[in-house]
Amino acid sequence: MARCFVTRALPGGALERLGAEHEVDVWEERLPPRPEQLRSRVRGVAGLLCLLTDRVDRQLIEAASELRVISNYAVGSDNVDLEAALERGLAVGVTPDVLTEATADLAFALILAAARRLVEADAEVRAGEWLTWESARLLGQDVHGATLGIVGLGRIGSSVARRAAGFEMEVLHTARDGGIDFYELLEASDFVSIHAPLTPQTLGLIGERELRRMKPTAVLVNTARGPIVDTDALARALEQGWIAAAALDVTDPEPLPAEHPLLRAPGLTVLPHIGSATHRARERMAELAVDNLLAGLEGRPLPAPAA
Ligand code: DGY
Repeated sequence: MARCFVTRALPGGALERLGAEHEVDVWEERLPPRPEQLRSRVRGVAGLLCLLTDRVDRQLIEAASELRVISNYAVGSDNVDLEAALERGLAVGVTPDVLTEATADLAFALILAAARRLVEADAEVRAGEWLTWESARLLGQDVHGATLGIVGLGRIGSSVARRAAGFEMEVLHTARDGGIDFYELLEASDFVSIHAPLTPQTLGLIGERELRRMKPTAVLVNTARGPIVDTDALARALEQGWIAAAALDVTDPEPLPAEHPLLRAPGLTVLPHIGSATHRARERMAELAVDNLLAGLEGRPLPAPAA
């Protein structure tokens, strides 16, 4: 029996399965443990099951001298210092596949919401500002037949592309091993949807230069990681009309402070990082995260290791 720390309660019954085999300490609060709290709770634990809001950096890894496995409850692993983990010989697991369709659904929901100005329209009705049917009010963009540029044609990007086929969209893409030129994609797309992991290469990938290359009618959709887009440049792009709209499930920082200029920018739809937030996806993520942790504790290869 090994000691494990789980940094938040998880949906479904996966943690009971972990508890049946190991000694499990769960952080029960709504907000994540602060770095010093996390450091103190991982002392003496062999298994850590953490969320994308927990920074598992070198300092933390060094403080956890008994640690054997880190299981991240996310498909991304940018919150974990993989190099430090590798140096210590720690196994690191993630939760791919089980959240692909839920995240692709949300990306498509954002494409539609931004194109047809759903959030603005809903607000107008609630504010009592809908006076009569008008021929030229709340006009949006056609999604059907438009050009969709997918930045990163991996699992989630491909899944979004399959949805786009149903809308008879022309799909352009960039990918690690091919696709079209990134700037060509930006210039040609009516919708640009980001599906790349956050790495040193994608940090700030969409900045002022890139936003200025997009069509003034274009919509930027980000369901990947906030820091892939330069937040200040995006706020200026919306204010000054370099692009028409942005629909974000992720921001930098997360959450955005209430007074952040981006929140006042026109054409913004913003969600609190709910890409994988369906009952099924989050329960399956919990099962896979526990499978990773159990495998690591038993010295077996993880079912879903971080790349
Ligand atoms: C992930 O898993 O990386 C998502 O951003 C959260 O579902």
